[in-house]
Amino acid sequence: MTNNAPTPEDQFANKAQAWSARFSEPVSDLVKRYTASVGFDQRLAFHDIAGSLAHAEMLAHVGVISQDDLGKIQSGLSQVRTDIENGQFTWLLDLEDVHLNIEKRLVELIGDAGKRLHTGRSRNDQVATDIRLWVREQIDLILMQLNALQRVLAEQAIKHADTIMPGFTHLQVAQPVTFGHHLMAYAEMFARDHERLVDCRRRVNRLPLGAAALAGTSFPIDRERVAKTLGFESVCQNSLDAVSDRDFAIEFCAASALIMTHISRLSEELVLWMSPRVGFITLADRFCTGSSIMPQKKNPDVPELARGKTGRVNGHLVALLTLMKGQPLAYNKDNQEDKEGLFDTADTVRNTLTIFVDMMQGVTVHAQAMRKAALQGFATATDLADYLVKKGVPFRDAHEVVAHAVLSCEQKGCDIADLPLDALQAFHHLIEADVHACLTLEGSVNARSHIGGTAPDQVRAAAQRKIDLLKDRD
Ligand code: ARG
Repeated sequence: MTNNAPTPEDQFANKAQAWSARFSEPVSDLVKRYTASVGFDQRLAFHDIAGSLAHAEMLAHVGVISQDDLGKIQSGLSQVRTDIENGQFTWLLDLEDVHLNIEKRLVELIGDAGKRLHTGRSRNDQVATDIRLWVREQIDLILMQLNALQRVLAEQAIKHADTIMPGFTHLQVAQPVTFGHHLMAYAEMFARDHERLVDCRRRVNRLPLGAAALAGTSFPIDRERVAKTLGFESVCQNSLDAVSDRDFAIEFCAASALIMTHISRLSEELVLWMSPRVGFITLADRFCTGSSIMPQKKNPDVPELARGKTGRVNGHLVALLTLMKGQPLAYNKDNQEDKEGLFDTADTVRNTLTIFVDMMQGVTVHAQAMRKAALQGFATATDLADYLVKKGVPFRDAHEVVAHAVLSCEQKGCDIADLPLDALQAFHHLIEADVHACLTLEGSVNARSHIGGTAPDQVRAAAQRKIDLLKDRD
C-alpha cells in the first residue's frame, strides 16, 4: 500500500474482541465478567510473554514472519513486560484474558507485526503452555522448600537422637522412641513428596504449543525448536490431547494434597505436644497468638491453620478432577476454571513450607516432660517379653507373663522397672538381675539398633545420610 486510502478490510480492524466480527450483539456486563479470566490469569503474564517470544522466534526461523517483524515483537513484548513489572499495564476486562490483553497492547505498540504473532497458534495451546511453564516454576520452588524442611528435620533429629519420648499407637503409650526418630518419620514423608514432584515435573515439562486450536496448523512450524527455547523436555504428541490435557495440573494438585496431608499430621502433633497437658514442646512466640479474652492463652495458630488449609488444597484437587471428568475432546471453556485452584494450591503449599522450615528450626523441646511421659504407661513391657524370649520362652507365653506383671503394677501404681528382682521373678523364674538393664528407657531404645529402628546411633546415622543426600542437591 503506497497511500493511506482505506482498504476494504480496514472496517474489520481494531475491534475490541479478537472474535467480535460475527456477533450481532455485545455480551451483557455480567456475562462479560462471568466469562473473563483476566482478573486471575494475569499471573501468567510473564510466562505468556516467554511463550510468545519463543513462538515468534520460531516463526521467523522457519520464514513465516520476517526478521524485522520478530525484532518488533521482541521489543514490543519487552515494553509490555516492563509495564507489567512497574504496575503500569492497564488490564481490560473487555479483552477477556491475559493473552488478549497482551496481544492487543502489543499491536498498539508495534502495529501489524504484533498482529502476526498469533500465526499458527491459538489461545488453546497458548494457555496450556503458559500453565505448564507456571507449574514447572512452582514445582522447582516447592522442591527446594521440601529439601530445606527435610534438612531442618534431620538437623533436629541429630540434636535429639538421645531424647526419649513415648511412641504411640492408638494415641496410647506403646514403646519408647527418640524424638529424633519421630522427626525423621516426617523427613521420610517429605522425601517421598519430593520424589513425587520430580516425577510429576517430567509430565508437566512437555510443550503443547503447535497444537493450535486443536488440529495443528498448516504453517511449517518447528515445535522441537520452541520446546528447546522454553526448556521443555519434549513436545506433546497429539494436538487434541495437547490443548485439552490437564493431567499435569491434577498430578501437581495431588502431590500438593499429600504434602499438605503430611503437614497436617505434623501440625496435629505439634498442637498436641504444645498443649499444657502434654508439654513436650514450645513453639516460638512468632508462630502463636494469644486470646482476646483469656490472658493465659498461647495458641499454636500456625499449625492449626496449616491443618485447616489442607482442606482447601484437597478441595482444589477434587475440583480439578471434577472439572475434567467427562470433558469431550478437545478444548472446552471449562478449562478456564483450572487456574484459581491451581494458583491457590501452589501459594498455600509454598507459604506453608516456608513457615514450617522456620518453625521447626525454632522448636523448644522439653526433654524431661517427654521422659516423664515415657516412664508412664508401661512403655518397656515389650522389652520384658523380648527378654524372656531371649531366655527361651515362646513369645506368646512371654506376652502372657508380662500382661500379668503389668496388671499387678497397675494395681500397685508403679512401673515394671520399679519392681524389685524377687517380685519380677515371681512372674517367671528365668528372670535374672540383668533384666533391669532392658527395662530402662535407654535400654529399650538402644536395643532397636537396625536400619529404621529408633536406637540413637541409628537415628544419627539416618539423619546424617539424609543431610549428605541433600547436600548433593544444593
Ligand atoms: N482464558 C482461556 C482459558 O483460560 C484461554 C483459552 C481460551 N480459548 C478459547 N477458545 N476460548 O482457558
